[in-house]
Amino acid sequence: MEKIGLNDLRRMFLEFYQGKDHYVRKSYSLIPENDKSLLIINSGMAPLKPYFAGLATPPSKRMTTCQKCIRTGDIENVGHTARHATFFEMLGSFSFGDYFKVESLTWGWEFITKVLKMPEDRLWASVYEEDKEAYDIWKNIVGLPEERIVLLGKEDNFWEIGTGPCGPCSEIYFDRGEMYGCGKPDCKPGCDCDRYVEFWNHVFTQFNRDEEGNYTPLAHPNIDTGMGLERLACIMQDVDSIFNVDTIQYILKGVADLAGIPYQNGEAKTDVSIRIITDHIRSVTFMIADGILPSNEGRGYVLRRLLRRAARHGKLLGIKGSFLAGLSDKVVEVSGSAYPELQ
Ligand code: ALA
Repeated sequence: MEKIGLNDLRRMFLEFYQGKDHYVRKSYSLIPENDKSLLIINSGMAPLKPYFAGLATPPSKRMTTCQKCIRTGDIENVGHTARHATFFEMLGSFSFGDYFKVESLTWGWEFITKVLKMPEDRLWASVYEEDKEAYDIWKNIVGLPEERIVLLGKEDNFWEIGTGPCGPCSEIYFDRGEMYGCGKPDCKPGCDCDRYVEFWNHVFTQFNRDEEGNYTPLAHPNIDTGMGLERLACIMQDVDSIFNVDTIQYILKGVADLAGIPYQNGEAKTDVSIRIITDHIRSVTFMIADGILPSNEGRGYVLRRLLRRAARHGKLLGIKGSFLAGLSDKVVEVSGSAYPELQ
C-alpha cells in the first residue's frame, strides 16, 4: 500500500463522501450543545443526535465530518499501550433517514479498496449475529468470502453510548498478519490479540435509548459510521503505534527534544512519559481552542487533570520551567490547516 499522511487521509475521506452527495461539515466544537448527558464530544455522531432522533432538520440528509473527540475513560492506559489516546479524530459518514445498509457498506468498501487501495484479502467484517441483512450485503453484494465475515453478539456489535440513537453495527477489520497474532487456531476479529485491527464501525441506527434503558424504534433508520483517523493512519503508514503516525510523531519528537531524551532509547519509563505528554498536549490544545478553561468541575476539571498529568510527566523527564504552552505550537503546526481555530 502507498503510505498516506494523516492530513491527506482526512481530506481523501471527506472528498470521497462529498462525491457521494454528502454535505461536508467542519468539526463541531468539543463542547456539546444542549446535551446534558455528555461532558465532552466523544464521537462523530454525538453532535448530530438531534438529527438522528428527528428533533431537528439537518442541513442535508447526507453528511460527513472529521470530528474532534475526547475520551478519558481509559486515561490510565494512555502512554502504556500503542493505541490508547485521550484525543482522536473520527471520520464519519451519516444518513438521516436517507440511504441505509447497502450504500453504507458498499461505499465503505469502495473507499478502502479503491481509494486507499487496501488489499482485499486483508479485510474482514463483523456483523451483529441477528443482522442477516448486513451479512448478506457483505457476502452477496460486496463479495466478501464467508470465512471472513464474523458474527458477534451485542457486546461487540451493538453500538450505544449513553442515551440517544443506537443500533446494531458492522465493523471492518484489517488483518496485520500472523506475526501479530496469538497463534490460537480460532484467532479472528473479536480476539483480544493485536492481529485484527478494528478500524471502521458502521452503525445502523434504528433505536433511541432513553434514561431508563428502554429502546424505542426511531421514525426512520439512519447510518452513523465512525473511523478513527489515527488508527487508519497506523494501517496506511504501516506502523504499530499511533505515536508513530506522521503528525503525532512530529509532536512526540518535540517532547523528546525538549526533554533532551531520545524516544525509544531502551528506557520504557521515559517513553511512557513522552507518550503521555504527546497525547495530553493534543487534548489540551484542542480543548482550550474550543474555549474550555481549567476549573474544579466538569469539562474544566478534565482539562485541569490532563494539564497536571502532562506537567508531572514533564518533571519526571527533567524538563525545567513551564513548557506546555510552547509545546502546543507543535499541535497547531500539524493540525492548524484542518482546524483553523487552533491558529
Ligand atoms: N458512533 C460510532 C462509533 O463511535 C460509529 O463507533
